[in-house]
Amino acid sequence: MTDMERTLVLLKPDCVQRRLMGRVIARFEDKGLNIIAMKMLHLTPEHAQRHYAEHVGKAFYPALEDFVTASPLLALVVEGPEVIRTVREMVGPTHGLKAPPGTIRGDFGISRQMNLVHASDSPASAAREIEVFFTAQELCPFQSSLQLWQLAVDERG
Ligand code: PPS
Repeated sequence: MTDMERTLVLLKPDCVQRRLMGRVIARFEDKGLNIIAMKMLHLTPEHAQRHYAEHVGKAFYPALEDFVTASPLLALVVEGPEVIRTVREMVGPTHGLKAPPGTIRGDFGISRQMNLVHASDSPASAAREIEVFFTAQELCPFQSSLQLWQLAVDERG
């Protein structure tokens, strides 16, 4: 299959506390993406700083760290063709009020802090972020017969 990729998704504390985990996970599964790792954890400040390394030092970072360390979150690795772009599009723009209907943030969010989901924004970020949360042994990729049929010969790279 062409362009198989992996991305890191975090269902942030607002998603967990609003009991929306199942509905958000269902969107990724409905799309045909594979969830190949999943872990619930309560982030420490040090862990949050490793994950959000590019944002440490920005004015909003203290609020972001307080939020993501306040309560448990669910970390996922999602696999599929062009999954980094696909998941970002499914999640929608950062601010729930600006995110279009049909996106996760557009359907469930009205703010920038309580925006439910983090998703890696590039192949380099995905590779780095997956390692922040998972060891190689914790990834459980699987093959489906459906994947063999999903792309016609002329759609394959
Ligand atoms: S940037 O600077 O444009 O890259 O930032 P942005 O992509 O908009 O946001 C990066 C992450 O920071 C979160 N964020 C905030 N959290 C709390 N308070 C404020 N004011 C705030 N501003 C930005 C935003 O939700 C993004 O989180 P993730 O988990 O990466 O989606």
